[in-house]
Amino acid sequence: MSDNQLAPPDHRKPGPPCIFVIFGASGDLTKRKLVPALFNLRCRGLLPDRFAVIGVAITPGDDASFRAQLATDIKQFATQAVDPAAWDEFVSACYYTAGDFNQAEVFASLKQKIAAVQQEQKIPGQNVVFNLAVTPTLFGTVAEQLGVAGLLQETPDGYRRVIIEKPFGHDLASARELNNRLHSALRESQIYRIDHYLGKETVQNIMIYRFANMIFEPIWNRRYVDSVQITVAESLGVEKRGSYLDHYGVLRDMVQNHMLSVLSLIAMEPPSSISGDAVHNEKVKVLDSIRPMEPEEVIENCVRGQYGAGMVDGQKVPAYRTEANVDPNSNTETYAALRLMVDNWRWADVPFYLRTGKHLAKHFTQVVIRFKRTPLMLFGEKVRTQAGPNTLILNIQPAESITIMMRVKNPGPAVVVDTVPLDFNYDQFGKRSASTGYETLLHDCMIGDMTLFHREDSVDASWRIVNPILDVWGALPPRDFPDYAAGTWGPASADRLLEHDGRHWENPA
Ligand code: BG6
Repeated sequence: MSDNQLAPPDHRKPGPPCIFVIFGASGDLTKRKLVPALFNLRCRGLLPDRFAVIGVAITPGDDASFRAQLATDIKQFATQAVDPAAWDEFVSACYYTAGDFNQAEVFASLKQKIAAVQQEQKIPGQNVVFNLAVTPTLFGTVAEQLGVAGLLQETPDGYRRVIIEKPFGHDLASARELNNRLHSALRESQIYRIDHYLGKETVQNIMIYRFANMIFEPIWNRRYVDSVQITVAESLGVEKRGSYLDHYGVLRDMVQNHMLSVLSLIAMEPPSSISGDAVHNEKVKVLDSIRPMEPEEVIENCVRGQYGAGMVDGQKVPAYRTEANVDPNSNTETYAALRLMVDNWRWADVPFYLRTGKHLAKHFTQVVIRFKRTPLMLFGEKVRTQAGPNTLILNIQPAESITIMMRVKNPGPAVVVDTVPLDFNYDQFGKRSASTGYETLLHDCMIGDMTLFHREDSVDASWRIVNPILDVWGALPPRDFPDYAAGTWGPASADRLLEHDGRHWENPA
């Protein structure tokens, strides 16, 4: 293990000098997220002075053509005005090497390129990040080839880290196979499984909110909490990702990773420290406590849906089955809602409701903690039951805010109780510089902080939750797809899931 890995990570400073290799350098992720994020880090003083990017892709090209392409792309995808001098400095340290990832030669030429760039940019040490912005089927191959080429060997003056994007497999078996392949070339401490939800400011704030405020922790349990809702609603449809989404569905695309991660932050026990393993251990314990479902329980607790034609933001949109690259008879779900039970001391009997969907009525991500009703009818039964319950609402996007719904007396002679919001909005911190969402995560990787990345056992645990649902859904094709109109709140069966428990989904106005 290198000295760099042993040093405690400092989030206000850049990491040690390094080379950042992007596989899939001509792809969408590179131009939309990775390069703008690295450039933002440069502008915020969070990239090491000695730093270079090497793009690798099958597209023919050289350093000059890569730089020209980056210069064109940044105009479109920068999140703030591009300072020409800063850009020139950044792009002059960007290099390119072309080749097919299935062939050993490209890894041999990458090795030479790394040595040449180290020399040209006077980059001391041997630190290299390999970012695999490639199709998931190539993760294993690229990692194995990097290993064969000797590019993953860490030395006292060099870390070697590999970033991979979800999906980490498409079911439990394939996730395990992928992990085995990665581990044939890498130690777990070298694998950074990225989840961009964990880079979101409000998601990171969940831990601070819970563990830095004395007023919440005592009531954060089954004695006071009635239920928890986690919603990731998108107004967008499949866009240009028909072939990907039709293969995966939202259960794999959103629930297995982003949503279960948010759930584990909400439900976990206080970690012994805020760093990597301590947090991961607690998150995995929560996932392990989620009650696995038998097939009949899947039918009772899980709802799927698919959108038909409808109106979104005042525009007519087509049915999912008629979208480009989608099977016209597709049974893939574009909506999923689950009732999960976390069978542990803190949460026994408190339902966690999760829902996500494409082309819903509004774009918003939020967590709602709904508290139990007060025990006494001091102000009359009507007051007790008619005023809304206390809820704590964590708005993750697009608004970033925290609201507590409180009961107060409505002014006047009669005792009328209303529920009113107490709000904190992130805008109150003043204007923040726009970002791609990748900055924190790439910086964390460069400073060796794995806290916001998925560990092997959490990936495994989440697939164990999702896999029985996939099995039942695969075995019993839906009979009523499409079952919700685009632009609505999803299928009626999802409403019934909560109505059955005497609850309802919390939708924004
Ligand atoms: C991605 C999914 O991981 O997250 C997409 O693959 C989804 O299908 C996206 O649209 C949502 O991310 P965000 O940050 O826009 O909520």
